Amino acid sequence: MINFELYNPTNLIFGKGQMEKLASLVPKGAKILLAYGGGSIFKNGIHEQVIKNLKDFEIIEFGGIEPNPHFETLMKAVAVIKEKKIDFILAVGGGSVIDGVKFMSAAAHFDGNPMEILQKKLLIKDLSKVVPFGTILTLPATGSEMNSGAVVTIQSTQEKLAFGGSALFPKFSICDPTVIESLPKRQLQNGVIDAYTHVLEQYLTYPHDGFLQDRIAESIIQTLIQIGPDVVENPKDYALASNFMWSCTMALNGLIQKGVPSDWATHMIGHELTALYGIDHARTLAVVGPNLYRVMFETKKGKLAQYGKRIFNLTGTDEEIANEAIKKTVEFFHTMGMDTKLSDYTKDYNKTASFIVDRFKERGWLGLGEKQNITLEKVKEIVEMSY
Ligand code: NZQ
Ligand code: ZN
Repeated sequence: MINFELYNPTNLIFGKGQMEKLASLVPKGAKILLAYGGGSIFKNGIHEQVIKNLKDFEIIEFGGIEPNPHFETLMKAVAVIKEKKIDFILAVGGGSVIDGVKFMSAAAHFDGNPMEILQKKLLIKDLSKVVPFGTILTLPATGSEMNSGAVVTIQSTQEKLAFGGSALFPKFSICDPTVIESLPKRQLQNGVIDAYTHVLEQYLTYPHDGFLQDRIAESIIQTLIQIGPDVVENPKDYALASNFMWSCTMALNGLIQKGVPSDWATHMIGHELTALYGIDHARTLAVVGPNLYRVMFETKKGKLAQYGKRIFNLTGTDEEIANEAIKKTVEFFHTMGMDTKLSDYTKDYNKTASFIVDRFKERGWLGLGEKQNITLEKVKEIVEMSY
């Protein structure tokens, strides 16, 4: 097993009615920036509950954080934080709002141009230079409620870039599974597939001796397969909702990647498809992932075979099982309402591969994946196979 450090200071508060604890979680006397998205929290009553629970605090609101949050919008929030001398931020939303708040937290006291946090992928480690924040999760998917990473889009350059660091863990996250009742089916489907792919990014690499990590990863996948198709039809079923939410958190709170290699190239290519075409994050993963496994078959076939045997009970030679496991994955994606070709989303895809390859080259991303052997040529092949 590879040496590791496990640090996760987020106080995760999970279950029905946990919002009642909100006032005791926010630092006493804090001036709060309440950050949210396009307004779903007004329709489902979450905004009202937050205001009720924080009645003794001074709150300034900042709404309008868009899905795949924009640097340009977030900088407006940063100006409010500075002007109003905010000392705590509360993110109420899905991954986009939480990621947006992580950026605000890092940017508010940043010496220099905050765009560098994204373009230079700076590690944010100094707790004295960030604004502390907590979250109220409204969409299970990203794991952002219990990790220190974030993804922000620079609208002016159409770049979607990841950043993070140990100072960017939420102080607390309230995760009440009943919030999913108001989610549109499409977002529920997205959540399942985003979490599923998070596990695959950390699991479908090459055989190693992180036996426990593999078993935990497999159990998250099995749970998502068990509940995924049902939770999108019955979001009011608490057993389904709670297992869905917890699986999403566990898929990307850092635990399963400790001591093992990880890939993340599906995400890196997927982010480009969102930046270029506005395709939902999870749907880009369903387009890219299976083709990446096909192109990188030789590197991944050992793990694909293990996945095929343990998850889908497949039999045959390892080669046969590995191939069949990719097919089963695509079938599951289809069951979960995903389209798996770029041409299902846009007709304007002829130059996508060369565009992405040029960008990766400019950024010096010449070898991605667990063995850094996803070269620019392979990236081109993966994207072209996705048309
Ligand atoms: O903006 P509002 O009006 O709130 O509506 C949102 C949004 O339109 C809506 N929604 C959220 N909760 C709802 C609700 N509608 C009804 N009822 C509720 N309870 O859902 C829509 C999508 O929200 P968004 O936050 O964009 O979705 P998601 O949680 O999937 O986040 C996606 C973003 O997270 C990034 C993605 O790249 C993308 O930008 N990721 C962040 C990661 C991380 N920080 O670790 C890892 C992921 O791989 C991912 O890259
Ligand atoms: Zn993701």
